[in-house]
Amino acid sequence: MKDIKATLLDRRSVRRYERESISEEDMNFIYDAICNTPTSYNGQQFSVIDVYDQPLKERMYELIGQKQIKTCSHFLIFCADYNKITKISEAKLIDLPDFQHTADGVIVGVVDATLAMMNALEAAEACGLGTCPIGYARTAAPEALSRLLKLPPKVFVVCGLAIGVPRECPDLKPKQPRSLVIHPNAYRQDSLVPELLEYDDHIKEYNATRSGDKTDNDWASHIVDYYQEAMSYCTLDALRRRGFDVKR
Ligand SMILES: Cc1cc2nc3c(=O)[nH]c(=O)nc-3n(C[C@H](O)[C@H](O)[C@H](O)COP(=O)(O)O)c2cc1C
Repeated sequence: MKDIKATLLDRRSVRRYERESISEEDMNFIYDAICNTPTSYNGQQFSVIDVYDQPLKERMYELIGQKQIKTCSHFLIFCADYNKITKISEAKLIDLPDFQHTADGVIVGVVDATLAMMNALEAAEACGLGTCPIGYARTAAPEALSRLLKLPPKVFVVCGLAIGVPRECPDLKPKQPRSLVIHPNAYRQDSLVPELLEYDDHIKEYNATRSGDKTDNDWASHIVDYYQEAMSYCTLDALRRRGFDVKR
């Protein structure tokens, strides 16, 4: 098992995998890490669909795109989940408020599911496996995917995570320097723009010289292009159709 420093600092997204299964021991460690996720109120407002059936992964690839889905060993789908608390409240005759109809209810479910994904990711990385989060699992075809996975109302896909035996080791992507990320005691704005421009140049240089596919992308325009694409996603509608009718 990798040590914690290597697990956290040598991590990069891996998008090519060997056609090999993950051992039962490693999967059990990943499941235990998921189950021990810290969650709001200890409410554990999340569930994970573990997809390892090859024809099902291929069907999901048709819906979502992203070839990692069909080549990985396990594709985990992390969902915000208020179905479980609904069912036990019904069984115990507890009057349950419509928390899932509030912005904070949605955030609580999304945070819990995301933390569970991060626990799974780090556990898999510690086992020497390759991982890649797949946000398109939420945005590409929310209704069709929910039907395929038989999700009940009040369960909403937040993110997917592909896990497999790595077949590549891409260069580590340069991240924003500590000075742009960690603000001592209060948000620091002085010299923000020059530091961001410097980082932007750094990414452009990395993209032009990295091993594998090279591009002439900078950082800011590339990210803004993603936001532009994301402006067409109908996530609020998708949330409402899943039983999260956000009102306040
Ligand atoms: C929430 C989330 C969603 C992501 N979705 C995708 C995706 O759909 N497809 C993909 O190839 N990578 C996806 N990624 C991976 C990012 O592109 C990657 O983390 C980022 O480029 C930084 O690279 P690194 O992970 O190698 O440090 C996603 C990452 C996160 C955290």
